[in-house]
Order: sequence, then structure tokens, then C-alpha cells
Amino acid sequence: MPEATAGERRDDLVVLYKHLRYEHHCPLRETRTKLVFGAGNADAELMFVGEAPGAQEDLSGLPFVGRAGRLLDELLAEVGLDRERDVFVANVLKCRPPGNRDPLPEEIAECSPHLFRQIELIRPRLVCTLGNFATKLLSGSPQGITRVHGTVQQVSVGGLDIRLFPLFHPAAALRTPSVKELLRADFGRIPGLLEDQ
Ligand code: URA
Repeated sequence: MPEATAGERRDDLVVLYKHLRYEHHCPLRETRTKLVFGAGNADAELMFVGEAPGAQEDLSGLPFVGRAGRLLDELLAEVGLDRERDVFVANVLKCRPPGNRDPLPEEIAECSPHLFRQIELIRPRLVCTLGNFATKLLSGSPQGITRVHGTVQQVSVGGLDIRLFPLFHPAAALRTPSVKELLRADFGRIPGLLEDQ
């Protein structure tokens, strides 16, 4: 079968969005305000995967619109990248856990197939995971972000071979200046990683 075109993959992404927004039922749907599907360029070579929507994302329906999102934009700009143009941003969970608690294992199990499908449809060349939850899910390893940040890994998601580049979560960087500098240094390697594949 011929490979799906970018247009067909975008159409399939819209089908997934509509399914999650209007049809899919799970416990977090009952407490969320808006679904946070993900946003950006659906044909991007670079994808970021965060943890779960927070309060502002839940209200707006868009990922990373709060303080952590502003830091993400700032770090992208420092390496010459623009979120709308160059990146697709999604989360492990598409709905906010009440009170911003950590995602539960059963919520991750329920929601992760949708993330895997997004990755399959967007076909990024590099996936940057932000923080422990996204990193452990996509690496398939229990190793935490402090150990693996900045270490490129080759993984398979839904039959697609992708390069994973685990990064600290921007919210952690906002809390701890030394983490922010590590995150900034890892960000500095992204343009080179996009070039040399
Ligand atoms: N933190 C996340 O992990 N994702 C968001 O969308 C916002 C904050």
C-alpha cells in the first residue's frame, strides 16, 4: 500500500481529534473543561510531548499556554525555532487531572494509544519528551529524567522508528535555576539533531 500523503495524515489527525472531543469517554472527561488535543504544525519534524494539561490549558484547550509554555517558546526562539511553524506539541494525557495531580497509571494506559497514533500520523523525525511521564512512557524504561535527559534514544512507536530526546520539564526548570540551565543546554542541541539524520 502506498504511504499516506501529508494531507491524508492531517485528515486522519482531524478524525482522531473529533473522536476524542465528541465520542471518547473516560473518567477525566467528566472533570475537564476542554480537551487538549495538541497543537502546532501537524507536518513538523519535531514534536514535544509533555505530561498533562494544567489549569490554563484546560480552559483554553491548547497545550503549554501557561508559564511553562512561555519558557518553552523562549527556549525554542533561542535556537531559532517557532512553535507554530516548526513543532507539534502534545501531552501524554489529553485532559487535565483534577487539581493538577500526577497522571494515574490507568489514565496513562487509557490515553497513551492516542499519543502513539498522533506520533504515527505526524511522523516527526525527533520527539522531545518533557519530564518523567512522557520520557518513561515513550522510552519504555523506568529510568528517570535526571539520568536520561540529553541522551538520544532510538525507539519504536506504532511501527515507526523515532529518535527520542528526553528533556527536563519546563515546569521543573522554572522551579530550579540549575535545571533551567541544563534544559537550555539540551535545547541547544536540537537544531543539530534535526540536521544530522
Ligand atoms: N504541563 C504539561 O505537561 N503540559 C501542558 O500542556 C502544560 C503544562
